[in-house]
Amino acid sequence: MHEVLEQVAKLGVVPVVVLNDVKDAAPLAKALCEGGLPCAEVTFRTAAAEESIRIMSEQFPEMLVGAGTVLTIDQVDRAVAAGAKFIVSPGFDPEIVDYCLSKDILVLPGCITPSEVAQAVKRGLKIVKFFPAEQAGGIAMIKAMAAPYTMVKFMPTGGISAKNLADYLSCDKIIACGGSWMVKGSLVEAGEFDKIRELAQEAVEIVKESRGK
Ligand code: 3PG
Repeated sequence: MHEVLEQVAKLGVVPVVVLNDVKDAAPLAKALCEGGLPCAEVTFRTAAAEESIRIMSEQFPEMLVGAGTVLTIDQVDRAVAAGAKFIVSPGFDPEIVDYCLSKDILVLPGCITPSEVAQAVKRGLKIVKFFPAEQAGGIAMIKAMAAPYTMVKFMPTGGISAKNLADYLSCDKIIACGGSWMVKGSLVEAGEFDKIRELAQEAVEIVKESRGK
């Protein structure tokens, strides 16, 4: 498995971040690192994404920083130049996937139907995002799709929290879960980085317990 995917699998959780202000990037990264979850998928839903990826990657080299909500090739280039180690898209965009593969960039496209998984398999992808996880059928849907596509594993995101994280991680077709519950915009904007650290710690504990370690 790709070294970055091994790290993702080991962590078990990928915090999905929406940052409105670059000033929050460093304190947020610090809180996640201190909470034992040195990872962030910084989404290109705001103008602060690119610079936030740069700040986190440069100031927290121990952190695994990727880009989420990547919808264009220009965003792929900007994310990677800023230090992103992986690219996540909500859906399966063949143009983005093929571009990333041609540049040897790790890409996790969203796939919630067998037809989308088939396109990923055709391109040799082993891990895809499953978004929006809860709304699209959750673990039952993942298990059903993994039955024919035995070579594929999933990173579900959307509607996952401390309440259902352990259920998802109990499925061996899931390498990690993405989620925003520990890095909610309201917490970031209120400067509640201690709370974010605590929620990250809680997530780490759930991962440990669910894996029996
Ligand atoms: C994503 O982009 O992966 C989701 O918006 C995260 O979903 P959540 O906010 O329900 O965790």
